[in-house]
Amino acid sequence: MVAAGTAKIEKSARQYRADFPILGQMMNGRKLAFLDTAASAQKPKIVIDSMSSVYSTGYANIHRGVYRISQELTTAFEEVRQKVADFIGAPGARNIVFTRNSTEAINLVAQSWGRTHLQKGDEVILSAMEHHANIVPWQLLQAQIGIEIKVIPVLDDGTLDYEAYQSLLSPRTKMVGVVHISNAFGVRNNISKIIKLSRDFNPKIKVLIDGSQGVVHSPVNVIALDADFYVFTGHKLYGPTGIGALYGKYEALESMPPYQGGGDMIERVSFSGSTFREPPHRFEAGTPPIAEVIGLGAAIDYVREIGFDFIQKREENLLAYGNKKLKEISGLKVFGDVSDKAGIFSFTIENMHPSDIGMVLDQCGVAVRAGHHCCMPLLERFGLDATVRASLGLYSNEEDIDALVEGLHKARELFQ
Ligand code: ALA
Repeated sequence: MVAAGTAKIEKSARQYRADFPILGQMMNGRKLAFLDTAASAQKPKIVIDSMSSVYSTGYANIHRGVYRISQELTTAFEEVRQKVADFIGAPGARNIVFTRNSTEAINLVAQSWGRTHLQKGDEVILSAMEHHANIVPWQLLQAQIGIEIKVIPVLDDGTLDYEAYQSLLSPRTKMVGVVHISNAFGVRNNISKIIKLSRDFNPKIKVLIDGSQGVVHSPVNVIALDADFYVFTGHKLYGPTGIGALYGKYEALESMPPYQGGGDMIERVSFSGSTFREPPHRFEAGTPPIAEVIGLGAAIDYVREIGFDFIQKREENLLAYGNKKLKEISGLKVFGDVSDKAGIFSFTIENMHPSDIGMVLDQCGVAVRAGHHCCMPLLERFGLDATVRASLGLYSNEEDIDALVEGLHKARELFQ
């Protein structure tokens, strides 16, 4: 039974890999082993074709045209809003604001919700494993209005210190912002617990979840989670760059003023004052990234068709395979080496700098990220300035991991 299941997964994995044209390439004389999916995922042909088809057969501006191409594209665009809502279990399309990426979504919440609802001395709790995108927007707000930022520590195994989190909650806590899955180490946070602890302490505290990796590696249901805000980006989900989404509870969105002003977000404009549309349109000024929204819709269809049962099972197998192989390399230390994690290996090797390792791997056709992964505070917590990060996508396979391990042996020979 188990063997038959595994064989089925292997067969599907080969088929899905073939959907990604770029992966057929050679790199520095070797088959490309793309292990930098956490930075940005490769795109299946269906996503590339969906965008190309917009430009070659049905492109016009949306929400404005009285003619057929514009109206059809407007309908297709708005259908993607519903698709995003369904994908993350949101009540409806009106809860979904299209943004450029997760970064813009968090800046929107910090500037619009934050400036409206926070004042000097109010506290925002973030975790030490946040991406800079969920730190710097709050620091900008801190400089503007004097909020306090408190930080949930990370334990030695790379997980959050939930006890310390409880002790940080105070009557001044107004917002908690936590990443769903760490992009740097792959650790999956218990965000239900984070949300429940905040609700038990004070139901008025808002919780924002950075789901940039969360939506890639696991099914998400924002209603079951009871998150106030959940953000993600298209390009890590096999979709295009330049498009992301902010989910917000509608009463929260309704309480927020526009983030940017311009066309499409207004009801009426005059020099004596302007009025604005209801959310989500109030937050979408100017011509949106139309083809990118269509591409995001195609990416969501693609991922849903494959299904998280497959994605998670495959990732589990590859994680076990990779962990075993990597640990055979002497001096290699994996960070965030816990059971509840996504397909991300973040590691160092004694006496070798991650950048040097990354360069040798590139020569072997293996693409990884070597650096701080936009999580400097997390790396600092472990006394590091960089790790090597090999991150998996639904197209990754054992051969990619073998190429990584072979490249690491080569790096050892060169640098020892
Ligand atoms: N946030 C991206 C990463 O994790 C760029 O590498």
